[in-house]
This record gives sequence, structure tokens and C-alpha cells, in this order.
Amino acid sequence: MREPQFHALSQPGDAAQAAREAAAGLLAPQAHSHPKWFYDRLGSHLFDAITELVEYDLTRNEAEIFIQHGPAIAGALREWLPARPTLIDLGAGSCAKGERLFALADPGRYVAVDISVDFLRHSLACLQRAHPDRELHGVGLDFSSQLALPDSLSSPGSLVFYPGSSIGNFAPDDAGRFLHEARQLARGGALLIGVDLVKDAAELEAAYDDAIGVTAAFNLNLLRRLNHLLGADFNPRHWQHLALWNEQAQRVEMHLEAREALTVRWPSHERAFLKGERIHTENAYKWTLAGFEVLLRQAGYARLQPWTDARGRFALWLAA
Ligand code: AVI
Repeated sequence: MREPQFHALSQPGDAAQAAREAAAGLLAPQAHSHPKWFYDRLGSHLFDAITELVEYDLTRNEAEIFIQHGPAIAGALREWLPARPTLIDLGAGSCAKGERLFALADPGRYVAVDISVDFLRHSLACLQRAHPDRELHGVGLDFSSQLALPDSLSSPGSLVFYPGSSIGNFAPDDAGRFLHEARQLARGGALLIGVDLVKDAAELEAAYDDAIGVTAAFNLNLLRRLNHLLGADFNPRHWQHLALWNEQAQRVEMHLEAREALTVRWPSHERAFLKGERIHTENAYKWTLAGFEVLLRQAGYARLQPWTDARGRFALWLAA
């Protein structure tokens, strides 16, 4: 059996840089935190649990597209890409979605990229047992501000896979930049990307504020993560989870709201919060088919093929 190969692209000193970045967000007039900090080991497990929730149907809608349109997707991949392309799975997590693509794309090499390196190691070890002959690579990388891999990890005509509507966690300008970088990474190949579509506000808010509190735990776990990153003294019991649809910006916003006036301290800093004051922790933008087509074209993609689920709630785009 082969062994997955690991490539650590993070630089020494990244922990200090991460702490500076997290502190700057907390000290800003409107306190905020980047969604990438959600994904420590527990956060990645909590996100996997979110995908099982009745209210959060994105993952099931995307899976339905793969089932309903599987033959058409496989046909397009064969037509648009060289045989046995490199498959680059961005934000691979459990690698479950990447593994499903094995049957449709038959990749010569699978490169799983994720910020949560420990979780990825575990996922790839399991995947290798199920596919002993596949060439598997794991890359620990934060690609939120820049997406680039060494050429040795891609190949001309690669398939870049970015499922789950993670593109929705980027503001529109950053999403455009990311799509442009993904096109360069594919080296003349294609991008296969999942995008959640605009729908009823109440349904969207429920998807990010489920009845049994898994999303609340996912959001509150961020405070544990910030304690770890900064040496801070957040008490999650003093905060509550909020999810709000912002109609004008077409995004669901997640916040953590202070239940009482409090002060959070970490080495050489502190931040006082009034009762009701919030930390803005995530945006999940929702797109229309037409709006996302414009974004793809502006990022330089000329050949586009969208598929949607039967109820038109989620879209999967192949773009080259
Ligand atoms: C990873 N990302 C696409 C999820 C989303 O829907 O924006 C993260 C998430 N946040 C709360 N629930 C799920």
C-alpha cells in the first residue's frame, strides 16, 4: 500500500502572524474574526455534523447534483481535460467529496489541501486504506488570502475542485481574486465549483441557526480557538450565537454577541465589550446563477457549464 505524502507549506512564524491577525480583528471598532479560525480539529468535526442537519441542505443538494448529473459531469470532464488529470481538492476536510469524484474524473493524482492539517492527515490515512494504489498528497495551507501551490503538485490540465459553496465565505471582490488564482492553478484545466443560490430568508437563517445548536457550537468553538491562538480568556458561556440574513449584501452573517458587559484579556491587550456587542465571525454570500456567471467571466473563464439540483437551490459549475 502507498503512503500519502505530506507537504507543509506553512512557514515558521505563522503562529505569531496568526495571533497578530486574530488580535487585530478583535481590536477593530467592529470586532471580527476570519472564518478560517473555525477549523481546528473540533471545528472540522462540528462542520461535518452541520452537513448532516435537516436545516443545512447545501451538502445534500450538491450531492444530488452529482447523482442526477453524474454521467453528464463525467462526460464534460473527459471532454475538457486530459486523461487522468491531477485533482486538487481545496478545503478537502474529510476528503469525502474528493473521493466521490474519483469515479467521475479518474485522477492520476489527488492533492488534498486544507488549513486543518491534523484532520487532513487522518482523512488521507483512511482514504489511502480504501484506495491503496492511488497517489495521494496532503497540503497544509491557508489559501484564504492567496492560492498558489508549487508546480510540482499540479500538472497541465488539472482539475481544481472547490465544493460546498466555500466561495460564499469570500466577499465578492475576494471571490473574484480567488477564481482568478484557481484558473492559474488549473494550468489550462478546469474548475469544478459548488455555489449555494439565493433563497427564502427564513430558510437561510435556519440553515445557520439550527434547532439543536450544532451551528451555535461551531461558532462558539471559535472562542476556544482564539483562547488557544492568543492566550485569551474568552468564556463561551458569556456569548451567544446569532445568524442574520443581510438582504442588501445577499449574505448570511454569523455573529457572537456578549450576553453581559465583559472584558477579554490576552498578553499585553484587552478588549471591553458592552452587553449586546458583537464579534462578526462569518459571511456566507448567496449567489444567483446570472451573478455567478458574471463573476466567472470576469475572472477569465470562457467555457462554462452549470448544473443545478431539481429545486434550483444549489449550482455546480464547470468552468475553463
Ligand atoms: C464552509 N462553508 C461553506 C460553510 C457555509 O455554509 O458558509 C460554513 C458554515 N458556517 C455555518 N454553517 C456552515
